[in-house]
Amino acid sequence: MQIEFKNLYFNYNNNSEFKVTVLKNINYLINKNNITAIVGKTGSGKSTLTELINYFLKPTSGQVITDGFISENSTKLKFKVVNKLRKKIGYLFQFSENQLFEDTVIKDVSFGVKNFYPKDDGYEQKSKEALRLVGLDESFDSRSPFDLSGGEKKRVAIAGVIAYKPDLLILDEPTAGLDAQGKKEIMDLFKKIHETGVQIILITHDMNVVLEYADEMIVLDNGSIQKYGSPKEILKENVEKYNLETPHIYKTINALKEKGIVLNNVTDIPSLVTELKKHG
Ligand SMILES: Nc1ncnc2c1ncn2[C@@H]1O[C@H](COP(=O)(O)OP(=O)(O)OP(=O)(O)O)[C@@H](O)[C@H]1O
Ligand SMILES: [Mg+2]
Repeated sequence: MQIEFKNLYFNYNNNSEFKVTVLKNINYLINKNNITAIVGKTGSGKSTLTELINYFLKPTSGQVITDGFISENSTKLKFKVVNKLRKKIGYLFQFSENQLFEDTVIKDVSFGVKNFYPKDDGYEQKSKEALRLVGLDESFDSRSPFDLSGGEKKRVAIAGVIAYKPDLLILDEPTAGLDAQGKKEIMDLFKKIHETGVQIILITHDMNVVLEYADEMIVLDNGSIQKYGSPKEILKENVEKYNLETPHIYKTINALKEKGIVLNNVTDIPSLVTELKKHG
């Protein structure tokens, strides 16, 4: 799905004394075939930018064009249009684990399917499939979401957005609160879903995840795009200037460089091993 930001500005509380300018002159076309990472320090505007994509927020000026729908300040959003768009987009909110509300896991996961496809009586089956994909077995179906661990709640929230099979997943910190193993399982699941043709926009603070999974990245700082392009290129430079952490693999390469071992073309552990072997 094509997503374009044109001269986009966004203020919270625009017409009051509490006005804050959060996005400034954003111009960008997101590549529809990619896993696109949006990164930047806390408060840089990442969540705000993605909330503009499916019309939770309206631009203060400029445009957001999502799948041909133009959103600008003067746009009167029609329910039908917004609903048509939103069912193509699975939006996983930041802190989604705190937003479960039904009394059983299966009901919570079914909510989106029932909401967007009221005539589909296969919602329970779809919800079960989604739960199994995120690694929660049948014993979870009838449990209360409130009795689950943080990581389990996160998985339920993820199941809820993949269950209705959207064309685009917007994932705001999907791995926050998961342990290392859980993070890998969930990211591998998103990768698999992406390989079936689903577009992904991913907000994360984890540069290891960006390097391993994303095809393109956008670095936001104080509401502006500071840099964009290939994670492999951007992350190997000095990224501390954007308040980002250098991925482990590049830290290792830099440490080796200080010892006089210069390695090229290394982006992951297997390529590191191959290059090190060449050095004997
Ligand atoms: N509802 C709101 N009203 C006023 N200001 C807000 C509101 N929501 C966010 N902001 C402000 O807008 C700025 C950008 O917030 P946003 O949530 O988009 O940042 P973020 O990059 O997602 O940060 P984080 O990494 O902490 O999630 C912040 O300065 C924040 O305080
Ligand atoms: Mg955020």
